[in-house]
Amino acid sequence: MKLHAMLLLIAPLLVAACATSSSSRPYAVALLQPTRGSSATGTIWLTQDGPEVVARGKVSGLKPNQEHGFHVHETGDCSSNDGMSAGGHFNPHGKPHGRPGPEHHAGDLPALRADARGDADVRFEVPGTVFGPGPEALAGKALIVHAAPDDYTTQPTGNSGARIACGVISTQPGRDIAGNEVPPPAR
Ligand code: CU
Ligand code: ZN
Repeated sequence: MKLHAMLLLIAPLLVAACATSSSSRPYAVALLQPTRGSSATGTIWLTQDGPEVVARGKVSGLKPNQEHGFHVHETGDCSSNDGMSAGGHFNPHGKPHGRPGPEHHAGDLPALRADARGDADVRFEVPGTVFGPGPEALAGKALIVHAAPDDYTTQPTGNSGARIACGVISTQPGRDIAGNEVPPPAR
């Protein structure tokens, strides 16, 4: 068999393999920008794995060795300099605030844990949907980092203090909300 004939035969198989690999899953991007007086910044990638949202990324400029409340808020608007334009916790099913588990806001996420340099690696999976369909979609909402730990008890906020960074979760796969392409996470 000639080489080019062989390539024609295996090319569709290679394409199929790439189309199903995790690196080609559609992902949403949130670029976290500091609110006034804060230096917290970060990039978060959200992909879908079956019934779970997979979050990867990094946040810097946090208080060293401290937990920071981390939530999806209901309004994809980070225009106010205190992050309050993002509204309350994303809560499409009218649940109480709480630790990730059966009964909590859809926007309640595992807290960020800053290391000694004030950096937090973001690496978790939670039930949910990135792009939908349905009212649970996280795309188009806002990600907020708080100054203090989330106690997962105080209603409806978790008492996690000021909003120190805000980023809108993009609705266009692979792009930020300005429409710029953002490469997938390295890991
Ligand atoms: Cu919050
Ligand atoms: Zn909540």
